Amino acid sequence: MQFAPLPPDPYNPFDVNTVRAIYPGTFDPLTNGHLDLIARGSKIFDHLVIAILNNSEKQPLFPVRERVEMITEATREFGNISVSTFDGLLVEFARQQQAQALLRGIRAISDYEYEFQMALMNRRLAPQLETVFMMPAEKYSYVSSRLIREVFRLGGSVEGLVPPMVIQRLQARISIDPAGDLPRSPK
Ligand code: PNS
Repeated sequence: MQFAPLPPDPYNPFDVNTVRAIYPGTFDPLTNGHLDLIARGSKIFDHLVIAILNNSEKQPLFPVRERVEMITEATREFGNISVSTFDGLLVEFARQQQAQALLRGIRAISDYEYEFQMALMNRRLAPQLETVFMMPAEKYSYVSSRLIREVFRLGGSVEGLVPPMVIQRLQARISIDPAGDLPRSPK
């Protein structure tokens, strides 16, 4: 079977040999699983843009401003990472950023179906944009932002699963919003 050469890449029109990738998500809050993936992504991509969804239908615990602050602080040492927010379609943000790839993490088979659907829909919307999946370290394979919020709220320890400054932010935020029933956090 023969493969035809790929058409010119609108995301990389000058054919520059660098790969800029977007790592999108809600990051409510950032976990060590996210950081593990960021470290892996920063090794294989020239530049990684961490993109926080701004208009999620979910009611976030942390306003987007605080999520930007946490991720910026936690990724300060990496030389090739930037943090941004986006609204609307991810592929449109990727086009604006001139990114060639999306990075997503797969922790377990249960992630696969959702990720597969998103990757194929994104491919339909933007055929030149590749989704790249990476696996975080096994020790983070069960860690999710949702579980972190729940365990912390119920008084369990999340030490070792999120950076220490995220624990401090959780303490501050949960003391404002103990039952998690405040109206949607301001952006
Ligand atoms: O951390 P999450 O909640 O799993 O991230 C999901 C996210 C932000 C990647 C996804 O909801 C998204 O891309 N939203 C932007 C809107 C969009 O492009 N939707 C179509 C996806 S196929």
